[in-house]
Amino acid sequence: MERWSGRVALVTGASSGIGAAIAEKLVKSGMKVFACARNIGKIEEMKKTLAKDTTCKGTLFPIRCDLTKEEDILSMFATIKETAGGVDVCVNNAGLGFAGDNLMNGKTDHWRTMLQTNVLAYAIVTREAIQSMKSRNVDDGHIVYINSDSGYYTLNDPTWHFYEGTKHAVTAQAEGLRRELRLANTHIRVSQVSPGWVQTEFAKRAGGEEFHKQCLEAGNKPLQPDDIADAVMYVVAAPPHVQVFNMLMYGTEESV
Ligand SMILES: NC(=O)c1ccc[n+]([C@@H]2O[C@H](COP(=O)([O-])OP(=O)(O)OC[C@H]3O[C@@H](n4cnc5c(N)ncnc54)[C@H](OP(=O)(O)O)[C@@H]3O)[C@@H](O)[C@H]2O)c1
Repeated sequence: MERWSGRVALVTGASSGIGAAIAEKLVKSGMKVFACARNIGKIEEMKKTLAKDTTCKGTLFPIRCDLTKEEDILSMFATIKETAGGVDVCVNNAGLGFAGDNLMNGKTDHWRTMLQTNVLAYAIVTREAIQSMKSRNVDDGHIVYINSDSGYYTLNDPTWHFYEGTKHAVTAQAEGLRRELRLANTHIRVSQVSPGWVQTEFAKRAGGEEFHKQCLEAGNKPLQPDDIADAVMYVVAAPPHVQVFNMLMYGTEESV
């Protein structure tokens, strides 16, 4: 990670789960990390903890942003530009699902929120990150998409059918962006890290405590946020000529 030391990363959805683990590892490696979410209390706490860690080489900048609002995203990029110049590594991570929202009777509001967060925000944030790189002649930037195994197939479980559609859209965005960047002759890289079940706040937020308990009781040992963050560190640290395009990860006991 030496070549990234002192450079700037943005991690979306860093108040919890996978995003929090990624932000922490990037800061420890020496990057200036802008970590966004709607609730930044936990990111503020992480900042205090990291400030006491004498081995931590980077800096954490908590930044409040509701990714369903384009004006919030644009204002976040303006703050990053003013504070640190611009984004070199962009990790699109914030996302959510709603358990039980099958296609025969799901709620339009839930579908809209998933589209805005999982699809549209990924596109707007990526566009702004690329524009930030281009405006500073940064040719070695990196866009990382936290996708999902749901981005590649549709399960027999109706709970996730709309969510799976949003993750299929992430697969298309990643593939499309890789091709666009080639056409533009840049060396900006694109990677996806696509996990199966990871133990985070996701299930609780999707379906409440009881649903989360059921997931845990299903008996498959889940992946942990640090496992995904380690994969992100690997793809970002790979030499500039290596583009790890997708890491599909399952817990060893997962049986989808
Ligand atoms: N957990 C899994 O099994 C799993 C598997 C495959 C893929 N994924 C993907 O991994 C990513 C991270 O999920 P996670 O498991 O870490 O879930 P999580 O623990 O629930 O974290 C979700 C993060 O997204 C943020 N977020 C949600 N809506 C937002 C908005 N409108 N604006 C800004 N931030 C927002 C949340 O922060 P605030 O609420 O504070 O805004 C939180 O920091 C998601 O894209 C998810 O689809 C998860």
